[in-house]
Formats: sequence, C-alpha cells, structure tokens
Amino acid sequence: MLKSSSQLLSCSNTKSHSLLQNTLRCFSKTQHPIFSLDKIQSIDQTHREPTTFKDRLALSSIRLIRSCFDLATGYNIKRMTLSKWLTRCIFLETIAAVPGMVGGMTKHLQSLRTLEHDNGLIHHLLEEAENERTHLFIFIQLKKPSRAFQSMIMLAQGVFFNVYFLAYLLSPSFCHRLVGFLEEEAVHTYSKLVEQIDSGLIPEWNRDTLAPQMAREYYELPSNATMRDVILSIRADESIHRDMNHKFSDLRPNANVDQEVSEFFSKDQRIRNSHEYCHNSSASDEEDVQHRGRGGPMGGAAL
Ligand SMILES: [Fe+2]
Ligand SMILES: [Fe+2]
Repeated sequence: MLKSSSQLLSCSNTKSHSLLQNTLRCFSKTQHPIFSLDKIQSIDQTHREPTTFKDRLALSSIRLIRSCFDLATGYNIKRMTLSKWLTRCIFLETIAAVPGMVGGMTKHLQSLRTLEHDNGLIHHLLEEAENERTHLFIFIQLKKPSRAFQSMIMLAQGVFFNVYFLAYLLSPSFCHRLVGFLEEEAVHTYSKLVEQIDSGLIPEWNRDTLAPQMAREYYELPSNATMRDVILSIRADESIHRDMNHKFSDLRPNANVDQEVSEFFSKDQRIRNSHEYCHNSSASDEEDVQHRGRGGPMGGAAL
C-alpha cells in the first residue's frame, strides 16, 4: 500500500523513515567549509607517488592534459600578466568542474539501477562541482572571455566530458586518482599565483586590492578581504579536492567512506570550526551514521 510522505515521516521508528531522512539529508543545502585565513597562508604542495599501473596512467594523462592546457592558455611563468592568469584560471575551472558532475551523475544512475543507497557520494561530488563552478564565476567577474576562448572551452568540455564519463564507468578509482593529480596541479598553479602577487609581479592585485563581494560572501571573508585572500581560499579548496580524491581512490568499494571523511575533516587545520561539520550529530543521528555515515564539510562520500 502506498504511503504519503506525511505518513512516512510519522513512522519514526521504521526503516522507511530512516531511508527518507537519509534521502532528505542528501538533498540538504550544500555547506561550504569556511577556512581560517591564518591556517591557509601556506598549503603543502603534496604529490602522491604512483604505485600501480593505473596510478601511472592517471599521472601520465594529467601531464598530457597539462601540456595541452599550457599551450592553450599561453602559460609561461616568466611572462604572466593578470590577463593571462585569469585566462588560465578560467580555463582550469571549466575543466575542474566537470569530474564532480560526471561522477555524481554516474553514481546517481547507478543508484537508480541497483536500488542501493549511494552513502552520500553523490552529494559530495556535486558539491565539488558546484565549488569549482563558483571559482569560475569569481574569475569571470574579472575578465569576460572572448567568443574564440568560449569556443575552446566548448571543445575542451566536449572531449573531456565524454572521455571522463567513459573512464568513470570503467574505473571510478582511476578517475579519482586522475582528479587527485589534477588538483595537485591546481594547488601548484595557485601557489605560483600567490608567489607572484607577493613579489609585486601583478600590480593590479597588490595586497590592498579588495575581493569581489560575491567571493567575500562565499568564503565569509571580512569586508577588507583582498584578492590574495580569495586566491588563498580557492587554493585551500583545491587542496581539499586533491586529498579527498586521492583518498576515494584508495578506499575499498565497501569502505565506510563517510566516517573516514568525517575523521579527516575533524582534524583538518585548514577549516575554521571543523568540529561543527563533523561532531554536531545527535544521538539518533549516530544511528544513521552506522547506516549511511555522515558527511564532512564537502558532504558525505562513499564509493
Ligand atoms: Fe577550482
Ligand atoms: Fe578543485
């Protein structure tokens, strides 16, 4: 017999209620981590050494993508201007925002086919995609891409989306490793940008250049926050994507990823009040943790 949603909600001790609550939680508003500016002044540029054939293939693929990317954006660290940096960052973010959406879509369809819960991975991946798209919109407030550049974005997206989708169907762990390496490159790129701001090589973004309002609101930065603070926050985002995707690639298929993600964020020094994301569950929520796990600031995640 069919039940209305109110009937389902009234069945407080049934499994249906638990499933519905878990589902509702998955669709709750995305919560973005708020960084401590003091703690993200420097970010370790870590590199995961490849140990398997899949790792080496992922690293080689990223090096190839990076070479094409450098060519397309005219990257030469000694000749970078603000305009060139913006071009590079805009292109980077249009690519970086694809994997989360493709992974989320693929896991969503898999969940529909298998009738099994995703344990929060979909939410996490979509949040990552949204976070990357926000980076993009911060940058396009500062530079409007030309028609020719938009055509390059379309071409790159057409190729990357389809290749990544097929790869994700074949091996999600390979794809998460690939994204881990991609994010290593993103952290490297933004670190170089911070270095150039600090060296005075980008006079338009000196230490007094105020951040756009949208970026200040998104990262909950103070009213006197600068573009440097925004770049530091974006770099911190990329470092979290890097660490999370490498972690996802390492985990066994049935691992309790939510718990691991929660533990990761509870110790994360980059995030202000990280305990609010990881340890604010009630006793009844703890029961759900056993069933579905609980997401960290990037949302829950499980493979
Ligand atoms: Fe990004
Ligand atoms: Fe990223």
